[in-house]
Amino acid sequence: MITVRKMLLEDVEGVMEVDRDSFSLPWSRESFILEVKSPISYYVVAEDETGKIIAYGGFYLIIDQVEITNIAVLSKKRGQGIGKSILEVLLKIALVGGGKLVNLEVRESNEAAKAMYYSYGFSLVGKRKGYYQLPSEDALLLSLVLEEGRFDD
Ligand SMILES: CC(C)(COP(=O)(O)OP(=O)(O)OC[C@H]1O[C@@H](n2cnc3c(N)ncnc32)[C@H](O)[C@@H]1OP(=O)(O)O)[C@@H](O)C(=O)NCCC(=O)NCCS
Repeated sequence: MITVRKMLLEDVEGVMEVDRDSFSLPWSRESFILEVKSPISYYVVAEDETGKIIAYGGFYLIIDQVEITNIAVLSKKRGQGIGKSILEVLLKIALVGGGKLVNLEVRESNEAAKAMYYSYGFSLVGKRKGYYQLPSEDALLLSLVLEEGRFDD
């Protein structure tokens, strides 16, 4: 069974493994420590039944503006709904925290991530030329208006 929970300092090593597996320019240990300690950031991890961290994601919230910084799943665990679980948990927490508009950047060629975000109602609102390196690529800016009651069953 997969559990999604708040990220703690002791999770940093496991999260860095997921990050290295997912991005050509992974974040430093210090960046993750700062994010875990930041009062405006919120990060979650997904762990398997053995306690191994297999995914993470997070956002920061300024007033009512949410910026999703990263969502990543270990490559061998992709395609099982874990990315969607992380995204949904983040959106629910952001809504409870007063978030009204969610923004994020995604590589133009990242079909899996784009499909995931579009399936949650994100829309394309802009493009940032040459935003990414290794390889150089434009970023698409996606946004979602978080509506009260969206996740009520
Ligand atoms: C993007 C990512 C987080 C998705 O995680 P995942 O666990 O594989 O995704 P899920 O299994 O939850 O699938 C979620 C949705 O994404 C889309 N998707 C997932 N894999 C896909 C693929 N290979 N091609 C196209 N769409 C795909 C689908 O819309 C899917 O929904 P559906 O199954 O209802 O059709 C994962 O591919 C990843 O970690 N990529 C590397 C890091 C990254 O690029 N992060 C995004 C940065 S903004």
